[in-house]
Amino acid sequence: MTTAQPNPLARQGSTAQPIPVIIDCDTGVDDALALLFAVRHPGLDLRAVTCVAGNTDVDQVVRNTLTVLDRAGAPDLPVARGAARPLIEPARHASHVHGQDGMGDLGLPAPTTRTAVDVDAVTLLRREILASPRPVTLIPTAPLTNIALLLRTYPEVTRNIERIVFMGGAVTTGNATPVAEFNVWHDPEAAAILLTAGVPITMYGLDVFERVVVPAADVRRLRASAEPGARLAGDLLAHRHPAATTDPDAPGGLGDAGAVCAVADPAGLTTELLPVEVSLAPGPTRGQTVVDRRPRHGESEIHHGTREQALVEVGLDVDVTRYARLYLETVETR
Ligand code: BDR
Ligand code: CA
Repeated sequence: MTTAQPNPLARQGSTAQPIPVIIDCDTGVDDALALLFAVRHPGLDLRAVTCVAGNTDVDQVVRNTLTVLDRAGAPDLPVARGAARPLIEPARHASHVHGQDGMGDLGLPAPTTRTAVDVDAVTLLRREILASPRPVTLIPTAPLTNIALLLRTYPEVTRNIERIVFMGGAVTTGNATPVAEFNVWHDPEAAAILLTAGVPITMYGLDVFERVVVPAADVRRLRASAEPGARLAGDLLAHRHPAATTDPDAPGGLGDAGAVCAVADPAGLTTELLPVEVSLAPGPTRGQTVVDRRPRHGESEIHHGTREQALVEVGLDVDVTRYARLYLETVETR
């Protein structure tokens, strides 16, 4: 049983105007699914995309992102290259999950006419956030290096950030380590900076991320589509983590796209406002998001006093059917 309160994102979702959003990604099979959805959802105004090293190297992330935007039929929106490695750690790709090209080795073509802008990701983020007529919702679906650099370089951007909804962290079990999720583990210091940004933050962590799947029959229909964006979504959803399953009839995970669904349709995500801290210590807990779900203080606080900790809306439950339907309706509507 959760004592969760209504997701505060729901207030934002009630506005009639599209929500201005910027995605910071490491495209990435599921980042690609997120981009396809964001481009096609009428309630979202995707104003820019920034790229960071994560699933693959940052130049490949830029190429993949441009290719996906081409396939999605996206308008001409700015895409920028960002950090090539985390703040302290070396870059550690995830090609065993996302393939050598980061896109499931689907043999996708290089981007045609679309190119990255000639400013770096931090500069683009600052420009687009401050230029937006309404506060922007940032959606990082990748290691948080670009966002940390932005917050440290241009702290004034927070005045025009509505909230940050990030895919990362885990309340219970990790994937990169037993307790750490990949995006936070890849750059723990950056994630710690994000949590103390001083703007409302929603954590779309592994606990909800791993649950949202699209049935195999829908994946097959998408793959047979004559429309290139829907077909790409099907091919990406059919991509499997080789160690997870070899069953061709397994459902397809939305992954990062679920975080974008949570912005477009906040009522599908149940959250609770909880203290969250990133473990920066070397050793087995490094990169863990320590979420305090205790009902009362314990001996640590009784003996040593309380410490200031970031309060984060943590995703604890998700309406799987609702988000799967929302995803399909959105990417199949052109
Ligand atoms: C996260 O790591 C990446 O591999 C995925 O794109 C997702 O953002 C899940 O841990
Ligand atoms: Ca990602």
